[in-house]
Amino acid sequence: METVRTIAALHQATAPWRAAGERIAFVPTMGNLHAGHLALVREAARVAERVVVSIFVNPLQFDRQDDFQAYPRTLAEDREALAQEAVDLLFLPEVEEMYPRGMEACTRVEVPGLSEVLCGAFRPGHFVGVATVVTKLLNAVRPDVALFGEKDFQQLLVVRRLVEDLNLPVEVRGVPTVREPDGLALSSRNRYLSPEERGRAPALYRALLAARERLLAGEPPGAVEAAGMRELEAAGLRPEYFSVRRREDLEEPGPADGQLVVLAAAWLGRARLIDNLPVDL
Ligand code: PAJ
Repeated sequence: METVRTIAALHQATAPWRAAGERIAFVPTMGNLHAGHLALVREAARVAERVVVSIFVNPLQFDRQDDFQAYPRTLAEDREALAQEAVDLLFLPEVEEMYPRGMEACTRVEVPGLSEVLCGAFRPGHFVGVATVVTKLLNAVRPDVALFGEKDFQQLLVVRRLVEDLNLPVEVRGVPTVREPDGLALSSRNRYLSPEERGRAPALYRALLAARERLLAGEPPGAVEAAGMRELEAAGLRPEYFSVRRREDLEEPGPADGQLVVLAAAWLGRARLIDNLPVDL
């Protein structure tokens, strides 16, 4: 696995692959890699000859400076994990490489509507930061396929939308959420949980499973959402939202909509947990 730190070196490393007609799959990450990230890397290796992974803790998508500073950076372990996988190239840019003009002056990508609901409502500017960095990374790597986790379902939809709207020549693939045996979705932020909080954290996934059962039993979304909020509070979590949406565009569902997703975000101690579950009526 080769490591490059500049976009120029990235172009140099990938040019021969493109010339040889090899397909390139790309997995953008912020590092602190876990089995969820590695599921994306394995899927990447399955769908293309060449795999590029990026690790870049993107300051533009953090709504709080302290969250950015505290974000776990574990490069040595990440490298070791990636070396065990079929990864050809690790792209490891500095902030100055991605934002040479500074973050304030940088051109931004905004996906209206989709970016403003759910997590977007609680983390102002977050999805502009995600959309901007993903666009820049896709233009730098120029992959045939890019892989994103369904764990961050709203992010996946934002990326699909910007790729469509900006006519980026890349296929976006979603990869199912990897969970702990007790249902907790793997996340770099789970390390903020104390052992006692870690024991309570699966309540989030349990509430989503219960919501799915309620929807399948014919309960209206409003009642399902209220029950979900109550369940999270009863488990000692501080929910931001518990919401039943249309899977396609995260709009509120009408009676004719059968493809739904239940999404939730909740604080537990200093960890902000998010998760979601698809529901087919
Ligand atoms: P990060 O949180 O590092 O996640 C990188 C990718 O791994 C994302 O596509 C995310 O959805 C996926 N992922 C995380 N946990 C997962 C799990 N338990 N199962 C499956 N996939 C999982 O998401 C970001 O970084 C950033 O916003 C990024 C897209 C890199 C832009 O900065």
